[in-house]
Amino acid sequence: MTTPSLLILPGDGIGPEVMTEVRKIIDWFGTKRDLAFDVSEDLVGGAAYDKHGVPLADETMAKAQEVDAVLLGAVGGPKYDNLDFSVKPERGLLRLRKEMDLYSNLRPAQCFDALADFSSLKKDIVAGLDIVIVRELTSGVYFGEPRGIIEEGNERVGINTQRYTESEIARVARSAFELARRRGNKVCSMEKANVMESGILWRDVVNEIHQAEYSDVELSHMYADNGAMQLVRAPKQFDVILTDNLFGDILSDCAAMLTGSLGMLPSASLGAPMANGRPKAMYEPVHGSAPDITGQGKANPIACILSFAMALRYSFDQGAEADRLEGAVEKVLADGVRTADLLGEEGVTPVSTTEMGDAILAALDASL
Ligand code: IPM
Ligand code: MG
Repeated sequence: MTTPSLLILPGDGIGPEVMTEVRKIIDWFGTKRDLAFDVSEDLVGGAAYDKHGVPLADETMAKAQEVDAVLLGAVGGPKYDNLDFSVKPERGLLRLRKEMDLYSNLRPAQCFDALADFSSLKKDIVAGLDIVIVRELTSGVYFGEPRGIIEEGNERVGINTQRYTESEIARVARSAFELARRRGNKVCSMEKANVMESGILWRDVVNEIHQAEYSDVELSHMYADNGAMQLVRAPKQFDVILTDNLFGDILSDCAAMLTGSLGMLPSASLGAPMANGRPKAMYEPVHGSAPDITGQGKANPIACILSFAMALRYSFDQGAEADRLEGAVEKVLADGVRTADLLGEEGVTPVSTTEMGDAILAALDASL
């Protein structure tokens, strides 16, 4: 068997800091679990712009297409706020998603017992929470044409287009149903069929796929605004939430905060299977580049580390090793180890990014 390949794109802000910890974890699996990866590293976002004048060089894009999985840190920062839209750091990320055709974005929101007090919601509403948002990632208003800012009469008009084809809806719906079968067997699909034609089609296609292929899975539908309300009212009613690109962006930030800290949440973006059977895949923490704490050793590396756990599970068929890594994170949190984003308990001194990584390594060692 050939060694699986990983392309690491640390990006901007705290991206490189958290990725340093992930590399330690990757090395651990190589030496202690005989699970070696062929790791290469490249630039994305502002870091790529600084070197190449674009947020993702063509060579990097080509590399991303070839590897078994991409691991991305974060992109963006105030330094790049005034760049032309076409070369903003975020465009690098969107190019990866689009050209790799990563249509299914899995965003789990899981509340670790040790952290239930950190949520802005009451503990009993979030304790034990374990839901996944499946967000469509390659279409909708993020990419729809026409788009732009045009002149009309004596004023400017901003235009974006929400557009979904049946096949785009069908493939992400299948991915949500498949995931639900491996979990709580429930899918709630969210759109705005009350005001948008694309929402009507979304609901129709989800129903068709459900009837034809997944009638064993429990399916419900909600308008996305009600879904947002239900997410903060009673989030545990959900198992898998299926939604489009823009609603998914918003609802997943909302779901993320239920768990107490954005610094905890990983994500996987999956596409069609490659020749070797593995899906095209990119893994990234849900948090951004956090310019306010960059370079201070304060960042929480857990979201990025858990993103690597998702890679073990979804790209490399190493569910047991993913469980091991997730277990190590859980253990460290149960032991009271906290980065600065997780403070609030009396008498707790925060650990640095590096110390958190080391604590997780120690917990991994203890798991053997
Ligand atoms: C996300 C982010 C991105 C998005 C940005 C950085 C382009 O908010 O992954 O949720 O809007 O999709
Ligand atoms: Mg977002």
